[in-house]
Amino acid sequence: MADLAETFRSATRIKKWSATIVANAVSTYALDTVATAAGVLLVASGQLSGIGIHAAAIVLGASYVLWACGLSSSLAANWRLLEMTGTSSSILSKLAYDLTGRRTMRVGIRRFLSAAGYVVFELAKETPYYIGAFGLALASDAVSGEEALVFLAGANAGAAAYEYGLGWSTRVLLQKAVSYTSFENAWSPAEYLADYYSAVEVDEQHTIAFFAEAAQRIPAGESVLVFGVGPTLHHVFPITTQVSEIHLGDYLRCNLDEISRWVEQDEGAHDWKPFVSYTLQCEGMADPTWEDILHRERLTRARITTLLEVDIRNDRPLADAQRLYTTVLSAYCADSATADLEEWQLYMRRIIELVRPGGTLLVAALGKTHSYLVGGRAFPSPMLGAADMERMLRNCFPEGALTIRTVHVPECAQHGYSSIILAAGHRRRPTSDK
Ligand SMILES: C[S@@+](CC[C@H](N)C(=O)[O-])C[C@H]1O[C@@H](n2cnc3c(N)ncnc32)[C@H](O)[C@@H]1O
Repeated sequence: MADLAETFRSATRIKKWSATIVANAVSTYALDTVATAAGVLLVASGQLSGIGIHAAAIVLGASYVLWACGLSSSLAANWRLLEMTGTSSSILSKLAYDLTGRRTMRVGIRRFLSAAGYVVFELAKETPYYIGAFGLALASDAVSGEEALVFLAGANAGAAAYEYGLGWSTRVLLQKAVSYTSFENAWSPAEYLADYYSAVEVDEQHTIAFFAEAAQRIPAGESVLVFGVGPTLHHVFPITTQVSEIHLGDYLRCNLDEISRWVEQDEGAHDWKPFVSYTLQCEGMADPTWEDILHRERLTRARITTLLEVDIRNDRPLADAQRLYTTVLSAYCADSATADLEEWQLYMRRIIELVRPGGTLLVAALGKTHSYLVGGRAFPSPMLGAADMERMLRNCFPEGALTIRTVHVPECAQHGYSSIILAAGHRRRPTSDK
């Protein structure tokens, strides 16, 4: 599985670099064509002929302001492109993005260096115009210094329009890409496992530790529902010892099939041992042995009794199996299934309604992002902040029984997010129960 994961990662890296190299070549050619044509047209139009060298220099200065405005539009789009797809129309910008990401530097620094790479490359593209325009002015009488400056001003105006157009079209394309990525057509459990679960990454270190701590307070000996479990088991291990039965629900059959493979100990099943080991450490076992890990795996397999096909878009997400649970855990599901905040609120209400009054809800969500990447494709997320989570949970969970934590995980920027929100709440009992 580790080899397969590495193969997937290498193939994804090659795809992203190939796309960047092609985009870089096309955009260099297009920019050259537009800028040269604009420069030649401005000179040929004669609109500025005879304005004198000083006025031409002022026009050139103004054209740089225009160029900077266009550049700021394409820079913003380039960052979004890098975050959502890991590709860019500038080789240097992608190089800076990849190198800083590998050293897990802060997002702000990564953004600054990617932008610097982009700008340096755009400036380098200006050089031929200067050599061409001034070379011609010096070497021949056919082109005057004034004409050379007017040509450069025109080329800058063309470049500004090009950069603005590039930024706009990139944003439109990305918006379309997000709305077109659907779980039904584009979700691959193998790619998800390869991208996110080859090792215990920082976001999962925090999530598992949070669930392991919260699990100590959930009522013992009852059934638990893990809603939107995906093809994963890492959030199940922390709750296994507390509960009598584990019911796992997901929208996609292919995800549940991946779980079945693990339960049945198929040869191709994902290896969750590093996650079991980490869970045991969170529970206080300093150095879990192989036998400790196998024991938790055996217990988990024995307690998984039901796999459910669920759909959060339905009023009754569990369909015929609709019922209440004493504990419901839902990690990166409602927030990873829509980009719309109101839709997320509706989905969360449906998940909360599955929790018996007095029961416990454990939730994890991506923070402040429009999307996250699986296999290079962007899946939606509604830009959640901790305040959204608090507003959502406050009504059903009394203040003292609600924990909400935002954790910054800049190391995860390559997946499309840099923070996560973890929440645990014990649902209010009806007044008569108290
Ligand atoms: C990002 S994955 C999270 C999986 C897992 N909980 C984890 O932490 O790795 C999002 C999950 O939401 C599920 N999902 C998407 N649309 C859904 C829907 N309409 N109803 C229920 N689950 C859905 C997907 O099948 C997928 O498994």
